[in-house]
Order: sequence, then structure tokens, then C-alpha cells
Amino acid sequence: MNNYLGDQVVDIHQTDHSIPSVISKYVDLCKLEDSDDSFIACNLGDIVYKYNDWFRTFPRIKPFYAMKCNDDSAVLKILADLGANFDCASKSEIQKVLSMGVCPSRIIYANPCKQSSMIRFAAKSNVEKMTFDNESELNKVKRIFPTAKLVLRISPQSNFKVLCDLGIKFGVNPEKAINLLRAAKNLGLDIIGVSFHVGSGCQEPEAFASAIQQARMVFDQGRDLGFNMTLLDIGGGFPGHAGASVSFDAFSHVVNMALDKYFPAEEGIDLIAEPGRYMVASAFTIAVNIISKRIETRHQHDNNGELINPVVMYFVSDGVYGSFNCLLYDHAAEVKIKPLKYVDVNDMTFESSVWGPTCDGIDCIATHLQLPMHEVDEWFYVENMGAYTIAAASTFNGMQNPRRIYYCDEGIWLNVYPKTVYNCAQSGTPDLRQGHSLQNTCEKVC
Ligand SMILES: Cc1ncc(COP(=O)(O)O)c(C=O)c1O
Repeated sequence: MNNYLGDQVVDIHQTDHSIPSVISKYVDLCKLEDSDDSFIACNLGDIVYKYNDWFRTFPRIKPFYAMKCNDDSAVLKILADLGANFDCASKSEIQKVLSMGVCPSRIIYANPCKQSSMIRFAAKSNVEKMTFDNESELNKVKRIFPTAKLVLRISPQSNFKVLCDLGIKFGVNPEKAINLLRAAKNLGLDIIGVSFHVGSGCQEPEAFASAIQQARMVFDQGRDLGFNMTLLDIGGGFPGHAGASVSFDAFSHVVNMALDKYFPAEEGIDLIAEPGRYMVASAFTIAVNIISKRIETRHQHDNNGELINPVVMYFVSDGVYGSFNCLLYDHAAEVKIKPLKYVDVNDMTFESSVWGPTCDGIDCIATHLQLPMHEVDEWFYVENMGAYTIAAASTFNGMQNPRRIYYCDEGIWLNVYPKTVYNCAQSGTPDLRQGHSLQNTCEKVC
């Protein structure tokens, strides 16, 4: 009997399996189907774990998942069913989330520079919360959606290390925020809070402490001008992959301390965040088939004469125009190619490079690897491929994007969907933060 999430089949695993064993099982199925196409295995249990862990770590902060990071419909569905809120950046992102029955109050339209037609759509759909960082945006909102609940995005001033600096494009310098607050006051608009994004792939948690302090200053200026400031949005930037160099707990320690200092619980301010890669990076593993290989020889000299070293070029079934586009666009991307077949520690390794399937020379996934010799039709896999990968993949050269396979450990699945098989198409928006289940909100279909 199949289990479904929306219209996606979910494979329920009775026991906890390692990633290589899960991938090997699907590779065996590929062989049966005579398929050499890449596939992505999505562990939905990992997303449930991350979501619950967010509340263990940040009991005061509501997550609005930044769906730009990965808008896979099963991912959105399980997050929606868990009670998550959403950060949307466009009309179609808003439409996608609304169509799953998420109510508009669970959405923040967090794109400071919006198309007028999309603001109109947000107004029609009652998506009230939206960010802005400039005066022309205020004039547009005044014209199209004067009752919008505006959140002023600042660009915190600091030199902390981040891999993708969003401050070069968005956010007003906090020192100049007062001008925008005054402009909004003159237009009679409603500013409800302040937001920032320290940068994706933040390497130094202290960036959050500094940003929260700067947000507090702007918050107080807003209050002084008479705005009812009730919301602080601390954006994204949290690590998402297993084994991140700075742990999630290191971030939580700094963030919680800064919030307790500048936005103490007694004040009752709504605290929200827009985590993207945190929720999904570790849930996706891609498996690629070795479709071809070329061996180059390199002559080197040692004390005993000349040595000929083979340098192996592997061509695989997905590349930088597909799921590995993160190598071009996401400066925080880390791609670790792993052999799927059993490798003995004593096996000889060779200098290797891995290339995508298109005809473009830029389509190179990794170089200077030391890998044991592989043959055509064997498989590599790469973990932590959930963030900023499939969301921007193209089909350049007619190369298709990988098929997606969903799986979940039985214990986790039954905790979320206790009655075996559900059709959650209705607008169930249960709150699982205290360990509640969906028991009464999903309709059993078999
Ligand atoms: C406005 C906004 N919020 C949240 C995010 C998610 O950031 P991250 O994936 O680093 O958590 C982004 C990423 O670009 C963003 O632009």
C-alpha cells in the first residue's frame, strides 16, 4: 500500500536506514527499469526533525520557510501540515502556498522590490505582511495596497563573514531608516516592524547579535513616530547541512541572548525568521550515474625515472546546468562526491574530475578528487543537496532534471500522519509545536 503526500508517493521505511543503503536500494530499482537517469532521494523525516528542532532551539521564533530555497511540493506540503509559515517572493510562490490551504496570515511577502501587479495580487489574496526598503516602494503600496502591514528591511552594518551577502542589494542603512519611517508616516501607511537578513551562509553567529541591536534602534524610532511596532523578522542565514562548520546551536546561543537583551519576552513582540537552507539542505541526496569516462595520462618524473599517472574524467548524468547549479549561484554550496560502491581503505585512488552531461566546458562539478577507479554505469552520490539546487535547475541541452523519490521513517511519518494514508488537500493547518499530530485535520482516504 502506498502512502501519499499530496500526489507524491512516499516510501515508508520500517527502520532507520543509512543514506548509502537508501540510495543503493533505489539504484537497484533503476537497474530493474534499465534507467541511468539521476534521481534525488528526499528524506521527509529529516525535514520534520529540522522543523521540530527549530522550536527546541528557538522557542520564541516562528519560522517562515523561505520557499525560494526549494519549492518542491512535497516539502511545502509537509511543512504546511506541520504548521510552518512561509516567506514568498513572488505571485506564483504565494499562489502555490495558498493553493495548499495555507491562510494568508501565514505568509510574508518578503521581497523588498515588488512588481505592482504582484502587490495587487497580494492585496486581493489578503497577504498583508510585506517588506520594503525604499521610498518608491512606499509610493506603490500607497497606491495599490494602502492597508498593507509593512516591515522595514534594514541592511545591518558590519563586517561579519557571510558567503552570500544580500546587503549589496537589499536593506536600508539603519542610520537612514528614519527617513523611510517619516515618509511612510506622511503617506499614512502602517509599519509594523523591522526585518534583516545577515546574509546566506553566515559564518559568524555574532552577525545576528549586531543586527538585532541595530534593528532595536530602528524599532524604537518607529515607535517614537507613533507606529505600532509589533514584529521583528531576523531573516535567514542559518546552516542547513550535516557537519556545518558553525553549528546551529552556536547560532541559537547568540541569537537567543541578543533577543533576550533587546527584545525581552515580557514586551510581547512577535519574533519571526525566514530560514531557507536550514530546513531542507540535509534532506536531499542526489545520485548520479557515470555515463562516460576518459582517462588522460600525465607524465611525471620521480627518482627512478618517469611515471605515468592516469587522470580520470568522469561524465555523470547531472551537472551545473541542472541540480549542481548551486556551484554557480550559491556561494555557500559544498559538493562532496561519494562513491556508492563499497570502497576498501586499501583501494588505489586516482586523481579524478567529475563533469556534467552537457556540451559546455563550464559544466564541471569537481576537480582534483582522489577516487578509486569507477566504471561506466556505476553511481556517485552527493548529500546535502536540498538548498538552492533543484529550484534553479534548467534543462539545457535537453538534459532532464532528476526524478524525485520521497521517503520517511515510519515512526516519524505516523507521528505526523497517524492514520496510515491521508489526503491532506484540505486546509489543515495544525500546530505540531507541542507534539500535536494531524489526527483531526486530515481526511483519511483509505
Ligand atoms: C529575504 C530572504 N529571506 C530568507 C532567505 C533564506 O536564506 P537562507 O537560505 O540563508 O536561510 C533568503 C535567501 O536569499 C532571502 O532572500
